[in-house]
Amino acid sequence: MTLPYCEPYKIKMVEPLRQSTTSEREVWIRNASYNLFNLRSDQVFIDLLTDSGTGAMSDRQWASIMTGDESYAGSSSYYKLRDAIRDITGFEYFLPTHQGRAAENVLFSVLVKEGDIVPGNAHFDTTKGHIEFRRATAVDCTVDLARNINAIDPFKGNVDPGRLEKVLKETPREKIGCIVVTITNNTAGGQPVSMANLRDVRKLADKYGVPVIFDSARFAENAWFIKTREEGYADKSIREISREMFSYADGMTMSSKKDAIVNIGGFIGFRDKELFRKATTFNIMFEGFITYGGMAGRDMNALADGLYEGTDYEYLESRINQVARLGEKLTSAGIPVKTPFGGHAIFIDAGKFLSEIPRSEFPAQRLAVEIYIEGGIRSAEIGTLMADRDPVTRQNRYPELELVRLAIPRRVYTDNHMDYVAAAVSNVYARRSKIKRGLTIKWEAPIMRHFTVELELIS
Ligand code: F0G
Repeated sequence: MTLPYCEPYKIKMVEPLRQSTTSEREVWIRNASYNLFNLRSDQVFIDLLTDSGTGAMSDRQWASIMTGDESYAGSSSYYKLRDAIRDITGFEYFLPTHQGRAAENVLFSVLVKEGDIVPGNAHFDTTKGHIEFRRATAVDCTVDLARNINAIDPFKGNVDPGRLEKVLKETPREKIGCIVVTITNNTAGGQPVSMANLRDVRKLADKYGVPVIFDSARFAENAWFIKTREEGYADKSIREISREMFSYADGMTMSSKKDAIVNIGGFIGFRDKELFRKATTFNIMFEGFITYGGMAGRDMNALADGLYEGTDYEYLESRINQVARLGEKLTSAGIPVKTPFGGHAIFIDAGKFLSEIPRSEFPAQRLAVEIYIEGGIRSAEIGTLMADRDPVTRQNRYPELELVRLAIPRRVYTDNHMDYVAAAVSNVYARRSKIKRGLTIKWEAPIMRHFTVELELIS
């Protein structure tokens, strides 16, 4: 018998969770204005809001916390992190930042100006936020397949090279801030980008003389997909694959809260010293001095360890298979989910699940609310609420799909938790025909509204 996947760690410390009742949850979510971000974490039983900063650090990482060097300048933790980043990514220069969006802010302060175009594959919402905040435009060049929820393709996160070239051809060089390739493509469902595609993007970038930046939050999961799905990579290690991926970029932004399994942290990697120098000024202004950039020394230590642990093949295998296990349970219950399953999350097709609710009433948000009421499970809407309004017309932007994301924190929940989640979602599915209306907005912020929006149930 082939042995099944198995976590390459055991549990040394546990954090008790409290179950609540349906009627308690109905009151809590109403008081939270039907926005799951407004819930207190102790009102949540299983928290699948995000896989960001929610992972469990190892005993080794916790031990490193104790040996962090908190010197303002030149701390040994900075050098430990520098060496790990050089080793794993190949980038010679780096700046620490407090998280991924801070890295975007600093880097885009150098690369993106008003009127610019920033093509890429479905920019994450903070990435797009930082581009639009500068009155520049993010152009989505993801392959069409990504929009086809069940198309079978190993690399549905890819950039469409034809679409990218069209943008590069039609835009004057000085108006292209940079190309941003997100690995894995979170917005498209945690779908990976192939090595061949990264190579194609590099070629186009060279042809048109523009820099390529990888938004690398889940680069290790991307490398695992390349290893297991792309010809020629089966015998390469995750770290070899990662080095090759990064060799096609001029720089990277990293939210370390994902694949580097720390609770806070980020960085920017650079190949070019000039670009690094320019970004340094902004880093000092926004984040902190070059050798800590918004991170405590102890957190840099834990991040350096996390970069190694997060690129361990056995760990990645158990992690990605746990996500797939949830996907399979949901699929076998007849629930429409995005396939192939993503690396960090399962995406439920809320448009299909609650097909009677018009998109202007945010069906995916309604589904997330119902899943919470059913089982105390917190998920995230990736649909019309998150897509925000068009900055010019102020109309709702309707994305291709209305999705609910069940993001799985790293090394936190057991397979039994996944089975509980599948059962709760199945219960909502069984009563879906009774859920006919969605939600209306009481208050919203002018940008990135989904974080703070206040909603009301339409009855
Ligand atoms: N890029 C990607 C692809 C992301 O998924 C995120 C965050 C960021 C950048 C920003 O990083 O949170 O450290 O500032 N994604 C989280 C999520 C919030 O839930 O998907 P950050």
